[in-house]
Amino acid sequence: KRRLAILISGRGSNMAALVEASSAVDCPYEVVLVASDKPAAAGLAWAADHGIATFAQSPKGLPKAEYEAAINAALREAGAEAIALAGYMRLLSDGFVARWRGRIVNIHPSLLPKYKGLDTHARALAAGDAVAGCSVHLVTEELDAGELLGQAEVPVLPDDTADTLSARVLEQEHRLYPETVARWLRGWSDGIPFS
Ligand code: GAR
Repeated sequence: KRRLAILISGRGSNMAALVEASSAVDCPYEVVLVASDKPAAAGLAWAADHGIATFAQSPKGLPKAEYEAAINAALREAGAEAIALAGYMRLLSDGFVARWRGRIVNIHPSLLPKYKGLDTHARALAAGDAVAGCSVHLVTEELDAGELLGQAEVPVLPDDTADTLSARVLEQEHRLYPETVARWLRGWSDGIPFS
């Protein structure tokens, strides 16, 4: 199985969906590490309760390069081959992305290329969109702009608020992310070399 690490910053519901899907015998990945920039992230406790190795490193007071070097060391020590960002709310540096080129995916709560960045649901509502959704994409240096690997749509309903829309999209995220990551990793023939 491919060795997948997951980076989170908070609740970790997408991380939990990835972990739960990994117990299927035909799942092409195992989750070898859950790491967070927020030591108090609820998802870290969930992962530890489920017997998964965890790592927390606050970036506070550290140069970005040092913070990322600590994360990178934990990833290498865990033998991670691929990284799934799951509500990891921090930009990775160009250097980090280059090291893991082609090996990092992210889930984003909009139908990219619409609504990169934050407040995606409020922006979809303000625009009067009839459909919303989520996207899984490869991570590149440019925010939320890498190759799309999968998307799921939901209707926007007349009484929606950002919260109700977000809950409807999140349900699809929990289905889309494990399915897309599994398909992506099955497509790695003999792996891709680290740069
Ligand atoms: C998810 O909706 C995810 O798509 C979004 O944050 C939420 C995290 O929830 N990610 C982004 O906005 C990335 N820019 P979770 O911690 O329960 O998975």
